[in-house]
Amino acid sequence: MTNPDSSNDRIDALIEKLTLQEKIDLVHGDHDPAELATGYLPGNDRVGVPSLSLVDGPMGVRAVTATAFPASIALAAAWDSDLAREQGEALGTEVLGADQDVLLAPGFNIIRAPQCGRSFEYYSEDPHLSSRLAVGTIESVQSAGAMATAKHYVANNQEHQRHAVSAEVDERTLREIYLPAFEAAVKEADVASVMASYNRINGTYATEHERLLTDVLKDEWGFDGFVVSDWWATTDAVGAARGGLDLDMPGVPVHEWQENESRIHRAIGALPDAAPKDKLAALAAKPWLPDGANPNLFEGSVFEDPLREAVKGGKVPETALDEKIARTLSQMERFGMFDDEQPEGSVNDPAHETVARRVAERGTVLLQNDGVLPLDEEPASIAVIGPNADKAKIGGGGSSEVDPTDAISPLDGIRERTDGETTVSFERGVERIEDPHDEDEGPFGLPVPDAIDDALSGDDEGPSIDAAARVAESADVAVVVVQDNASESEDRSLWLPNEQDQLVAAVADAAEKTVVVARTAGPVRMPWAGDVDAIVETWYPGQEDGHVTASVLFGDVDPSGRLPVTFARRTDHYPASTEGQYPGIELEAEYSEGVFVGYRHFDAEDIEPLFPFGHGLSYTDFEYDDVTVEAGDGPEATVEVTVENVGDRDGHEVVQAYLGQDDPSVERPPKELAAFESVELAAGESKTVTLEIEERDFAYYDTEESAWTVEDGDYTVSVGRSSRDIVDTDTVSVEDLTVVE
Ligand code: BGC
Repeated sequence: MTNPDSSNDRIDALIEKLTLQEKIDLVHGDHDPAELATGYLPGNDRVGVPSLSLVDGPMGVRAVTATAFPASIALAAAWDSDLAREQGEALGTEVLGADQDVLLAPGFNIIRAPQCGRSFEYYSEDPHLSSRLAVGTIESVQSAGAMATAKHYVANNQEHQRHAVSAEVDERTLREIYLPAFEAAVKEADVASVMASYNRINGTYATEHERLLTDVLKDEWGFDGFVVSDWWATTDAVGAARGGLDLDMPGVPVHEWQENESRIHRAIGALPDAAPKDKLAALAAKPWLPDGANPNLFEGSVFEDPLREAVKGGKVPETALDEKIARTLSQMERFGMFDDEQPEGSVNDPAHETVARRVAERGTVLLQNDGVLPLDEEPASIAVIGPNADKAKIGGGGSSEVDPTDAISPLDGIRERTDGETTVSFERGVERIEDPHDEDEGPFGLPVPDAIDDALSGDDEGPSIDAAARVAESADVAVVVVQDNASESEDRSLWLPNEQDQLVAAVADAAEKTVVVARTAGPVRMPWAGDVDAIVETWYPGQEDGHVTASVLFGDVDPSGRLPVTFARRTDHYPASTEGQYPGIELEAEYSEGVFVGYRHFDAEDIEPLFPFGHGLSYTDFEYDDVTVEAGDGPEATVEVTVENVGDRDGHEVVQAYLGQDDPSVERPPKELAAFESVELAAGESKTVTLEIEERDFAYYDTEESAWTVEDGDYTVSVGRSSRDIVDTDTVSVEDLTVVE
């Protein structure tokens, strides 16, 4: 049963010395005496096992004041795995700098329903793009010396009822859409750990899913790291132990975990042991406790007493316990933890701030532009409008929150960037949106009511759309900064909160020129899109928000992002749009759209999106030469295209190659992303881009054969600037591997 790759003589010798109780102590978390780690596995001094500290992820290190990087979806929008490597290297260094060992990231669940509250923590609706970014991030976090965690395995595509919902998904869809990035994380990036998600898949909890954890992940893909549970996700000791879970986290009831994060937990934790702490904690949690949350939130780990009894009673073999420990310890050894060989790391490194800024700039998507952008060097007046335009949008709510080393708002970024001659006015327009990163804490850590805050800032009349329209009317340009407020544990509306849509409409009506800067977790409805001059999507840009917004608006950098998700014109245009599909009925979400997720659905149904997958404008213009496609030795092809920057500014172009089978015997999407490359081109420069399309891109997953299968026949290669802006196509015939014009 023991996977030979996951153990070695040194680790085996250590395990042999452990008593049963000591083994049990190495498969579940406990309280971190330093109160820093998100999850903590105590070491064993007697036999010489060091402790292991795990920390969130993915947009910065949770434990300490750290660099708040842009949201993962912003990184994805740069379509650049080298950039992912730069950020991963910085992140990994911060993990070590904070005295932690494992980063609980990256997360790359497919953005199936854009309402998913954690879409900002994920990459894309597309498995190929997700895979490339996952591999880049994992390899670089790990080469910096920290372990990475691929999460959340798997089909954790919504926050609504995430603790109980079952993703009802067929095998082919799992293989083609939801599993590929995890497969790449294991096979290509050799990820140290994988986190089993909260949800069920076809009725079985991810933490107990023997087929997915043991058969697919460990046996088929050869994963030799450890599977860690999502926090309080495990419900059944025997099921999880036999299913393939290796480490149960956090191992302590919520009121004993990270007491510094909550006054109420601290108070309950400090009560005498005789007090009914679990009942009190459950009571205190009532207001936020999600429906169907696992009961062990208030209890110790199921990998503690219940697992020990199960081993004693023969329900779980002790060798299974040994294997779990071997998996964790061998990763600790691989990362130098037994030999004091972990690199130093650093958290407060200005170089990381520069990376955060570059990633946010590169991930900014210019959705629409009638020529108003970039702004003139010195417009006489700019009206900055928006409920939170005076606050940086650091990130979304939940476990990914970071306490930033610094932060700059769009308003301050624009003020700093202008030369003093420009009048920059500010109006909130509508009520401020509560933000998880608000620092406006009053006495006893309570939030400052908006009215008091407004009074303090001199805005004693409160925000009004009319006042915003008035300043917009008298300025040369109005910049409206809108945002949503997505958070883990709940899904989000696709409509902007707090009458921001009315605000944009009123400003667009009054102003000569209107630019909207959208800071959102993913796609939102934009009913005013046709009425404004430009739309810039900066996602959640992180601590460098204001610098990024200003440098993009003023054209200091080219906004080179491309959409990693489709923006639809209507909510019911998205693929999972019936109640049965999303959010599901009676805790079952039917993935009946199958492989037709994201643009695959819009293409197959011929629905015109508002902004298609892969879309993004630039301040310069690119021209493509004819595309040439050369067939390889097997079902593979090499695409070559020369791209020229014909404008007068430097920029990045993202060349995208899609593949579609012309006459498949099974239903297949019209086209699927097979390869892409982001190229930097100075004004006037041209480069030849080579893209490799691999065998797996031609294949579909044949469930009868349980194998990836390439059918003979013609395949169309489409090369373009987005999934809907195809510049040239070519045909590859798989029978004789020739290119047919
Ligand atoms: C989240 C994980 C996170 C963990 C620890 C869970 O609620 O789903 O992504 O790593 O908490 O904070």
